[in-house]
Amino acid sequence: MAAVTLLKGRRVVLGVTGSIAVYKSVDLASKLTQAGALVDVVMTEAARQFITPLTFQAVTGRPVYTDLWAADSTGGLPTHIAHVGLGEGADLLLIAPATAHTLAKLAHGLADDLLTVTALAVRCPVLVAPAMDGGMYAHPAVQANLKLLIERGIELIPPEHGRFASGLEGVGRLPETPALMGAVRQVLGQRFGGLAGRRVVVTAGGTQEPLDPVRYITNRSSGKQGYAIAQAAQDAGAHVTLITTAALSSPFGVEVVPVGSADEMLRAVLTYSRGADALVMAAAVADFRAKDVSQHKIKKKDDSDGLTLELVRNPDILAEVARVREADPAAGPRVVVGFAAESQDLLDNAQKKLERKRLDLIVANDISASDAGFAVETNRVVLLSPDSGREELPLMGKSEVAELLVNRLAGLLGG
Ligand code: PMT
Repeated sequence: MAAVTLLKGRRVVLGVTGSIAVYKSVDLASKLTQAGALVDVVMTEAARQFITPLTFQAVTGRPVYTDLWAADSTGGLPTHIAHVGLGEGADLLLIAPATAHTLAKLAHGLADDLLTVTALAVRCPVLVAPAMDGGMYAHPAVQANLKLLIERGIELIPPEHGRFASGLEGVGRLPETPALMGAVRQVLGQRFGGLAGRRVVVTAGGTQEPLDPVRYITNRSSGKQGYAIAQAAQDAGAHVTLITTAALSSPFGVEVVPVGSADEMLRAVLTYSRGADALVMAAAVADFRAKDVSQHKIKKKDDSDGLTLELVRNPDILAEVARVREADPAAGPRVVVGFAAESQDLLDNAQKKLERKRLDLIVANDISASDAGFAVETNRVVLLSPDSGREELPLMGKSEVAELLVNRLAGLLGG
């Protein structure tokens, strides 16, 4: 899911060191650039044994810095001055891959190349993604250096377990681009986001109300809008818990709580939203469930034409949350955002839910429109709140809706 604005205009210094994993750094530099970041690549001499600066310049469209003493690739200032400029303007220094050698130099303040000089000059967050073959990562010297770096506030993207170029297996593989991008967005979100330090609970997907071990009643919700809100809240620096019936790819760093029925969702919402800053109910919760759930698969009866199901009311989760907040405000979320899925009288029905469920904001969407609501990539919503009326948004991507909603949430929380 593309970050909508978080990375736009952000200065990222991407340090690249001498590991075979540098081939992944090209894709990372490309994805960061596509997301709007300004990427300045700094390559060590060992990195240049694996790949040329031109490759990075082609994907970033910016000069690549390689040698502490030579003029930069555009013939501008000598690069030993560049580290000051690079360091000063950076929003993030990301070293991916980071070899054992570079980690050792960082840990002991050595500064014999442009990357390590820049690492001492920056005042922005530093994120390292170690990558090394075989048992090197587990070696006590590497672990001791990492411990030192973490104690000094450097953020670590842990390597993954897998097969190395050598054919060996173990922990030391550079994670794939989505994980690296997620880590970058998490650090930038916590630094620049309007929800930094906040705890936000989001629900997504259609609940599944069982009939028998094989069948359940559900609805057309895909979870896309809820996942987009979880991603946007994560990008805004929040700690996000996503309570979901859907199984879309989880946004990096988000705590996922899988549920099925409305009852299970209710229990999870009451548990995780206790003392949270915000709850956003984007899930499509079934109002009814089967009165009797069969322990065995329901069989067709030869002597009857059909099957009669008796349905009973499900709990109204938002009404329960309102009850909890009324009894003890500290026991519930500070701000509650609901959705209204309507096929007629959109605003009137949404206004009634806003009041009846005692919400701080409701997002009304007309689910009868072919380009809004269930399962599609876009949505057309109206935001209603008790004190500031209504805000009609044009058709836009669900990520954009999510980002706008997160901005309103930050305002409600005094962000
Ligand atoms: O998931 P997608 O495919 O992306 O589709 C997005 C969406 C259309 C599902 C989403 O935008 C949306 O409208 N979600 C709310 C769907 C819904 O249940 O709306 P409702 O008007 O029936 O319920 C109103 C509010 O009460 C909702 O916040 C709902 O989560 C909540 N509710 C509903 C029933 C219930 N028993 N308990 C609840 O808390």
